[in-house]
Amino acid sequence: MTTTTAAPNDQGHRFTLRTTAQVGAEPANAVEARGIVKHYGATKALDGVDLTVRQGTVLGVLGPNGAGKTTLIRVLSTLIRPDAGSATVGGYDVLRQPKQLRRTIGLTGQYASVDEYLSGSENLYLIGRLLDLSRRDAKARAVELLERFSLTEAAGRPAKTYSGGMRRRLDLAASMIGRPRVLYLDEPTTGLDPRTRNEVWEEVRRMVAEGSTVLLTTQYMEEAEQLATDLTVIDRGRVIANGTVDGLKREVGGRTLRVRPARPGELAEMVRCLTDAGVLGATATPDGELLSVPIGGDEQLTAVIGVLGGRGFGIAGIDTVVPSLDEVFLAITGKTSTDSTAVIEETQR
Ligand SMILES: Nc1ncnc2c1ncn2[C@@H]1O[C@H](COP(=O)(O)OP(=O)(O)OP(=O)(O)O)[C@@H](O)[C@H]1O
Ligand SMILES: [Mg+2]
Repeated sequence: MTTTTAAPNDQGHRFTLRTTAQVGAEPANAVEARGIVKHYGATKALDGVDLTVRQGTVLGVLGPNGAGKTTLIRVLSTLIRPDAGSATVGGYDVLRQPKQLRRTIGLTGQYASVDEYLSGSENLYLIGRLLDLSRRDAKARAVELLERFSLTEAAGRPAKTYSGGMRRRLDLAASMIGRPRVLYLDEPTTGLDPRTRNEVWEEVRRMVAEGSTVLLTTQYMEEAEQLATDLTVIDRGRVIANGTVDGLKREVGGRTLRVRPARPGELAEMVRCLTDAGVLGATATPDGELLSVPIGGDEQLTAVIGVLGGRGFGIAGIDTVVPSLDEVFLAITGKTSTDSTAVIEETQR
């Protein structure tokens, strides 16, 4: 199949048409890492990590402090060499093609890396020029990104006068200058206020809509929920869960059936009746209004409703709830603290 793609020519601001035969077809997976190991003395920062980021998607990498997230990003951006394992990004090998790989990626590190003494617009212009943009394009891109991250007013001030959130925004803008095909964001919104966090999320979505692939580490489940389609959870240098956001919720937490009795006084009796019928885990919710029953599958749902209906209980409403990602995360990381070999793999996609 030959499709045409627009690619900047040497002047950057004009476009020439190339065919995929010339630029090479994009690999199905933007990032593929297998068996990555990185030890620091006795610390196994990464202990055999496999990870895949599908082209054009956002992978959320979750894990507690010290899990190995930043180390993984360092390996995948060629900043450190792994002790073992292999990885490709945009089809380029981390060990054998570091230069090409670096041109493919944008990186926002966990700690701000802008030049303190340059202004916001000078920082962005400089990076644009380092990335081979023409003067005109570097300037235009700086103006555009300063505007998008609400930094236009502060654009002329040295970055050292910026607040923490402003620096973070400038850092993100800097990683997006070259319109990287693969963007790594290491805890991009830690310490940002809710409005700024939303701006960052919008910008990440826009990048993805424009064709970028994103690998995002975060401590915020809401952020993962907002942005990621797939999740990889790591703990102590190992992958402990992997799958889609919805899949992991189903896998780890299952669903909970909530039933509102037509006659509130019958709630306790409903619980007793289900327990007698062998249904495990039936309880009243703490507010005493609903019946709550963990559900393994659709058959169980039908059976519970059948038992209640068969015993003549009136039902005013039913609902099923999936666990929050917070609950999923706690369940997964909690499990490994008692059973270090537990591995949860979501298989049904
Ligand atoms: N340069 C280094 N020298 C020694 N140990 C290191 C080095 N870099 C990381 N480590 C250790 O490797 C482990 C993983 O660290 P890493 O920074 O990758 O974790 P993280 O998941 O990013 O944590 P956080 O959520 O706190 O950012 C930690 O135990 C850390 O102390
Ligand atoms: Mg980190």
